[in-house]
Amino acid sequence: MSHRPAALLLLSFLLFPAAACTAEEPAGEAVWSNACSGCHADTAEIREAIPKADDENGRAKLETFLTRHHAPDEADRAAVIDWLIAQTNP
Ligand code: HEC
Repeated sequence: MSHRPAALLLLSFLLFPAAACTAEEPAGEAVWSNACSGCHADTAEIREAIPKADDENGRAKLETFLTRHHAPDEADRAAVIDWLIAQTNP
């Protein structure tokens, strides 16, 4: 019994970094799943509207559009745009 606190501490060290990683890495994909995929089954549907990675003008337009289209949060919007670009126009 006296070993239990140490074991729990070790367990939390083992688990926490893994949780932090999965929370950060697929942020754009998570936004897509939560806020977009209910209506857009496939990113291919909106491919035409996704700018090339170096198209800043196109990105600004998409950004403006998404401000009033289901991505009001700035960080979520940036993450989902990055993810969409990587998915459709790498
Ligand atoms: C409530 C349903 C719904 C949700 C949720 C939704 N959309 Fe849409 N979206 C539409 C409809 C309807 C259109 C207009 C018809 C079309 O172009 O397919 C559209 C159009 C678009 C377009 C423009 C497509 C084009 O060809 O010009 C993009 C880009 C887009 N959505 C991205 C997103 C993203 C990213 C999200 C999540 C942040 C999202 N949508 C969430 C329904 C939705």
